Amino acid sequence: MSNEKRFPENFLWGGALAANQVEGAYRDDGKGLTTVDLMPTGPKRWDIMHGYIDELQPQNDLFYPSHEAIDFYHRYKEDIALFAEMGFTCLRVSIAWARIFPTGEENEPNEAGLQFYDNLFDELLKHNIEPVVTVCHFDVPVALVEKYGSWKNRKMVALFEKYARTIFTRYQGKVKYWMTFNEINMLLHLPFMGAGIVLHQDENRDQVLYQAAHHQLVASALAVKACHEIIPEAQIGCMLAAGMTYPYSANPDDVWAGMEKDRESFFFIDVQSRGQYPGYAKRFFKDNQLTIVMEPGDEELLASHTVDYIGFSYYSSRCISTDEKVLQDQTDGNVFASVKNPYLKASEWGWTIDPKGLRITANQLHDRYQKPLFIVENGLGAIDQPDADGYVEDDYRIEYLEAHFKAMYEAIQDGVEIIGYTSWGPIDIVSASTGEMKKRYGYIYVDRDNEGNGSLARSRKKSFAWYQQVIKDNGFKR
Ligand code: BG6
Repeated sequence: MSNEKRFPENFLWGGALAANQVEGAYRDDGKGLTTVDLMPTGPKRWDIMHGYIDELQPQNDLFYPSHEAIDFYHRYKEDIALFAEMGFTCLRVSIAWARIFPTGEENEPNEAGLQFYDNLFDELLKHNIEPVVTVCHFDVPVALVEKYGSWKNRKMVALFEKYARTIFTRYQGKVKYWMTFNEINMLLHLPFMGAGIVLHQDENRDQVLYQAAHHQLVASALAVKACHEIIPEAQIGCMLAAGMTYPYSANPDDVWAGMEKDRESFFFIDVQSRGQYPGYAKRFFKDNQLTIVMEPGDEELLASHTVDYIGFSYYSSRCISTDEKVLQDQTDGNVFASVKNPYLKASEWGWTIDPKGLRITANQLHDRYQKPLFIVENGLGAIDQPDADGYVEDDYRIEYLEAHFKAMYEAIQDGVEIIGYTSWGPIDIVSASTGEMKKRYGYIYVDRDNEGNGSLARSRKKSFAWYQQVIKDNGFKR
């Protein structure tokens, strides 16, 4: 029997980046300060990302990795040439809102910022690489946080729509795949990182966050509407931090807890894809005395402008229990709290490794939404040991990816439509959660450490040739 595993024709293979984790040049060519520019390395980072600290200017004694990142702003041509050498047919990037509207409120966009992304997309297209663009990947202009409290305020909706319309109009001939908000459900877990929200002690956390979520959902629907109007041939999706929550046991209480946990995330996609607030969310609001303020027409907007596809990140499954004893054994998984799953191993950062979970999650999303899926983030953050030439024998990364590709292949055989796959950080980049450089995902090594030292030189790891072969074969021959 043949072991060949070939992916569908025109399946998109590539990698995924976020502006703030790669570009650097944080004030160049008129760019405004964004929320991510205020997240230092070290212990303060978590409190800032959670929205517990209101510190809206960089401090002199702290190190902010986004300020230089891996200098993609100046080195994108060299990096894209390496992606092309691997055979990428797509690259997911994000646009930094504050490069286009430095304070979010200018009447005219910043031409230098627009030009940068024109150059970037031209370079990709020159190499036959399809740009896949996230409109907002965790970076809100700081001026909007100062003035309006970011997404707490309804004012953000129109400002976001203006920004989205500007970039759809400018790049209509170049970009066919769009996504509105990266990991929109992150807002509930790391409010400042996800949505620029600082939580004050006298505020009701759920009230603030679900009102902000409503603003983002309306803004997302308006962006979908604008995209369909301006670029009718484009596809625009949502983006979920996905990964099914398994019940720790067959106890119905655990099963229900898992379902509730998943619904916390599905809530966003239910609105973006099905076009209405689900019944379980209405009940949650009622039980918790939350009032979501809506404007006339909001519900019609949400219903009329649903997404074309479901983009999602998958790093790990999660696990939940209602047993106090079990609950004490926690692990990480893309910042989502989870109890340790006794059947699975974890990465050096405690993120559970579960390839079959990708098949399960893809099937779950397919069953729920009946729309094409796009796996726009997945990968292993690991510590690499380069030799003197910057070469890394990263067999652990190859093993992780191969297992996930095979699971993705099985999902496709199950009948799940998947547009493509972009592995996270195809070149080493700054970690979103920790700000570290040593948490590396790349096929390409970047000489830079956690403190910002290093030449920034790029070099190919073992996984570079491996991924190149997978793309060339459109899967696996054996
Ligand atoms: C996702 C984000 O949460 O996970 C990325 O969309 C992030 O921005 C990625 O980098 C991996 O997380 P980390 O913390 O390992 O960088």
